Amino acid sequence: MNLNRRHFLAGVSALAAVPATGAAAAASRIIEARPGKVQLVSGDFPATEIWGYDGGVPGPLIRARQGETISRTLVNSLPQPTAIHWHGLRVPNNMDGVPGLTQDAVSVGGEFQYDLPLTDAGTYWYHSHNQSTEQVARGLYGVLIVDEPNSPDVDHDLAVVLDDWRMNKEAQITEDFGATHDWTHAGRMGNFIHASLSPSMDGVQTNQRLRLRLINVATDRIMAVSLRGLSGKLVAHDGMPVEQPEDFGVLVFGPAQRADIIADVTAKPGEPVQIILHERDSAYVLSELPVNGGGRAAPRGSIQPLPANPVAGIGSLTGAREVPLVMEGGAMGRMRQGTYKGQLLGMRDLVDQGQIWTFNGTAGLPEEPLVTASRGEIVRIAMENNTVFPHAMHLHGTHFREVGADGSLGPLRDTLLMDARETREIAFVADNPGDWLLHCHMLSHQAAGMKTWIRVT
Ligand code: C2O
Ligand code: CU
Repeated sequence: MNLNRRHFLAGVSALAAVPATGAAAAASRIIEARPGKVQLVSGDFPATEIWGYDGGVPGPLIRARQGETISRTLVNSLPQPTAIHWHGLRVPNNMDGVPGLTQDAVSVGGEFQYDLPLTDAGTYWYHSHNQSTEQVARGLYGVLIVDEPNSPDVDHDLAVVLDDWRMNKEAQITEDFGATHDWTHAGRMGNFIHASLSPSMDGVQTNQRLRLRLINVATDRIMAVSLRGLSGKLVAHDGMPVEQPEDFGVLVFGPAQRADIIADVTAKPGEPVQIILHERDSAYVLSELPVNGGGRAAPRGSIQPLPANPVAGIGSLTGAREVPLVMEGGAMGRMRQGTYKGQLLGMRDLVDQGQIWTFNGTAGLPEEPLVTASRGEIVRIAMENNTVFPHAMHLHGTHFREVGADGSLGPLRDTLLMDARETREIAFVADNPGDWLLHCHMLSHQAAGMKTWIRVT
């Protein structure tokens, strides 16, 4: 049988399967990274061999209340060293999970205990931050939900995990993780886009209220998604509540970006609620929920904002530290040379080392931070994308706001999707001490050079 995308997508139009990670595993303080097998593609296809937390994809849903501290001991049963990054959580620096910057990679058979104070409520996720082009592509990620002290009243609270797999005809992950063409272009694009819903459910009822936590965990693909049979508002970006719930149409997610949606079911029994993926000139049903009879007579009232998280306000931008970040490289770029591991190299030598992109002329993690800020200082980074590709810029350790051309401040985010040739500026209060990565979350681009770091003292 020939596996093309259309076939695959047809195969997953029914509710996505959720892996069999038992309740016991989810409650345990151990999280084991190990190979597993998951029935990702339905029909006659065999189960897919993956690497997953507790052997599942996504890994166990971790859920706790704001203000709590949770602990997980990572046990590495993979054939490679690994580490977990808790994406979007403002954790102490030594818990951030970045080998080469905040910890050593956990060796094969080794362990590492993560203690995570949950300062902010919202939708977060966790993933491998070692050889991540391979390890995330193989399935090493999971959802982390931090509940507000008083969560909004909804009937169903669902995580919707969007992923993009590159598979062969036997529905097995292809092992071409470092392919030069991917690294020099838009990254590793898959042929099987999958939405998994957790918890899995039989259906919803008209006028029920849902909270959907959409997360793009793909290594490189930007996903444009809309919802059919629902009417509601966007209440948070990247875990952080917006001040006023926003209307939305097609939601665009760069890798790692999230949105929380609160919406009421408008579909009647017989017309399902659908999650639709938009491509340039087509659209596919990624997942659907049947609407069963016996719903509420009327929807609930208006959708209220979620309570703000305790993030330091930027106040005024006057006197802020201003740092330029020029992004170059990639196919069709104008980059001719770059510094790598302290040496100035021509393009050909860089490519030989798998380095194709630079920040301020340097590929890979530079010896010196992009900026050293003292605690409490306001930092502005103007990011100039001198390439012909979009990039999803992610800062560890703190959320930032985009600075508009008029000096206005956008919503708090941890990942900013930039179009080709765009210049966008972010600002944040440097209040979390330590060394924090700033990189493109298109993991192929990150591996091929797009990373730097900041120091907060
Ligand atoms: Cu989601 Cu540096 O990572
Ligand atoms: Cu990129």
